[in-house]
Amino acid sequence: MNSQRRRSDRPLQFLRGFLKNPKEVGSVIPSSRFLTRRVLQCGDAASARVIVELGPGTGVLTREILELMPEDGKLIAVELLPEFVDLLHRSYPDPRLTLYNGSSADLEKALAEAGEAQADLVVSGIPFSTMERGEGRRTLEAAKRVLAPGGRFVAYQFRSAVRRMAEPVFGPAETRSGFWNLPPMRIYTFRRDTTPA
Ligand SMILES: C[S@@+](CC[C@H](N)C(=O)[O-])C[C@H]1O[C@@H](n2cnc3c(N)ncnc32)[C@H](O)[C@@H]1O
Repeated sequence: MNSQRRRSDRPLQFLRGFLKNPKEVGSVIPSSRFLTRRVLQCGDAASARVIVELGPGTGVLTREILELMPEDGKLIAVELLPEFVDLLHRSYPDPRLTLYNGSSADLEKALAEAGEAQADLVVSGIPFSTMERGEGRRTLEAAKRVLAPGGRFVAYQFRSAVRRMAEPVFGPAETRSGFWNLPPMRIYTFRRDTTPA
């Protein structure tokens, strides 16, 4: 387990990805396990069969999701950078995982390629504060469209841009903050069935 953990966190590959693509990667180190566990609790991931992960990076959250997912579960991970997609392919030869190399705004296409139309949970680590606004808005609208009844969208972020952008789409967020990570992150949980003001 420890060697698996070291492999999947891949801090050097993550840093290399950041140095090449600082705006897209948005952080110099992968998220901590304290943070990823909180994120999955907030999204009630244990009860989800289909999960979409936006921006898996080197796979720290991907691995946690696969560990708790049922045998018939599906994880669709949407990642912009091909070098991270290659790394994830090599690290996780798991039949429940489908990797999609492209933008989070194309998450419906990614789901369709995996043979699914709806997700119980969409979880996001992508940096909404630095991405192009139109792409951010299209991502959030697509996330809302694909959620099954009772579905959740959970975003973990250092800045609050995602909250401002997502509340008109989903309605009010439940916010959790704590020192689970460096830098400290907030976790925003949105529910498909909450009505925007
Ligand atoms: C802050 S890193 C988070 C990585 C990992 N989830 C973690 O928690 O350590 C953001 C990741 O999102 C990816 N990304 C950024 N914009 C994206 C987009 N529009 N669509 C898909 N992935 C994106 C980056 O390449 C990077 O892998």
